Amino acid sequence: MSDDIYREIILDHYRNPRNKGKLTDADVTIHDSNPLCGDEIDIHLKVEEDKIKDIKFEGRGCAISQASASMLTEMILNKPLSSVKNITKDDILENIGLMNLGPARIKCALLSLKVLKLGMVKYYSDRDPVAAKQVRDDSKLY
Ligand code: FES
Repeated sequence: MSDDIYREIILDHYRNPRNKGKLTDADVTIHDSNPLCGDEIDIHLKVEEDKIKDIKFEGRGCAISQASASMLTEMILNKPLSSVKNITKDDILENIGLMNLGPARIKCALLSLKVLKLGMVKYYSDRDPVAAKQVRDDSKLY
């Protein structure tokens, strides 16, 4: 796909975010921000039978951070935690079609992944300490 198509997809997700809002019965809610610019993301996860049964996000900030969050929710809805915990930064950059971002914009694109991984650490912390440690180590990479 051309860069223009990716740009249009990002703008579409920014203007019409998927899965935006709160989950009142979430198993985990987690918040974080990009300290450089203050952009914020909250992720609410509902987990059933080891799957992401529902996910919503709230946030404010640049088009890339918000579109990336919207795209991430679509990517992981109904997926097993065992595969979601292995999502990498390259999976996200490939998903949004921006493999050649500068360091500052990479932080924008990865903010929602960082929040998701922090949420998974919280979810796993009293259920599966080994998985919690693995995800915590991964989340330090962003
Ligand atoms: Fe802050 Fe994009 S400018 S995350």
